[in-house]
Amino acid sequence: MQIHETAFVVSTYRSYHEDVSKDTYAKLWNNPATDALIPDILKSVSEHEAILHSLRNRFFYESMNSFFKENGGGTLINFGSGFSMYQFSFDDNVSTIEIDKKDIIDYKKEKIDHWTQEGKLPYRDVQYAAIDFNKNSVEEMVNSLRPIIKKEPTFILIEGVVFFLNRTTTNKLFEVFKELQKPGDLVGLVTYLPEVENTAVYERLLHYFDSNNDTNDAFSHQTIPRSYFSKVNGYKVIESTDEFDLSKIHASEHSIRDKTQILNESLFILSKA
Ligand SMILES: C[S@@+](CC[C@H](N)C(=O)[O-])C[C@H]1O[C@@H](n2cnc3c(N)ncnc32)[C@H](O)[C@@H]1O
Repeated sequence: MQIHETAFVVSTYRSYHEDVSKDTYAKLWNNPATDALIPDILKSVSEHEAILHSLRNRFFYESMNSFFKENGGGTLINFGSGFSMYQFSFDDNVSTIEIDKKDIIDYKKEKIDHWTQEGKLPYRDVQYAAIDFNKNSVEEMVNSLRPIIKKEPTFILIEGVVFFLNRTTTNKLFEVFKELQKPGDLVGLVTYLPEVENTAVYERLLHYFDSNNDTNDAFSHQTIPRSYFSKVNGYKVIESTDEFDLSKIHASEHSIRDKTQILNESLFILSKA
């Protein structure tokens, strides 16, 4: 599986549970090649993957929507944005910067412009930046992003991405966040905690990636301990939860009873000090 395929897969998951994800635009990205991948993932890794990704979207949708409403708008800076569609559900005083690898950014911009012209999407101010987090330096990233931040405050989102990065790149990204943000600005981040590595379902996930790996598209498998976030320079954690706890609020009918049986991601909101 190539990294860009993971972006199609999670977008399709959100479209399966619009009532939970609150993403009514995800289905625009659905396509037969992704539909063909999903049954095998649900069977060989975990049947709960679609609802868990929808819960993750719901959490950030609500966090960002209330942040931007309280502040009369601002900028969502989405690192590894894939096919996220949050901005089309927010008020039009929210600008967005989409950051991803070049092939995703080019494809996404073309599709978004087309669907906006067709009236399938409301007009929103969206800027695009093609960046490879592994290859570009802190300075290069800051220099390309700073000039396109038009409105403050900012909410940086990095959702479904750090698993694919190593710790050096993650540290580098926090340096970029610190340079771009002002006190009170927020970062929303998703990660697996190291304890998830001991579960059978996580082993099945790694096995799935290993057996479906595209040799030109190598990626890391990172987990990050909670202590990393309490020590990160310039930020403090103001909220944290996980998909298991969110399932009790928004998906109780899915009978998810044991957090060790699911690929339970942890979600953090950090505030710039
Ligand atoms: C699983 S998708 C998640 C997409 C989106 N954030 C979401 O939750 O729907 C992972 C995304 O991270 C991007 N990504 C992974 N490694 C990256 C890197 N080194 N530089 C830039 N983007 C990267 C991929 O291209 C992909 O779009």
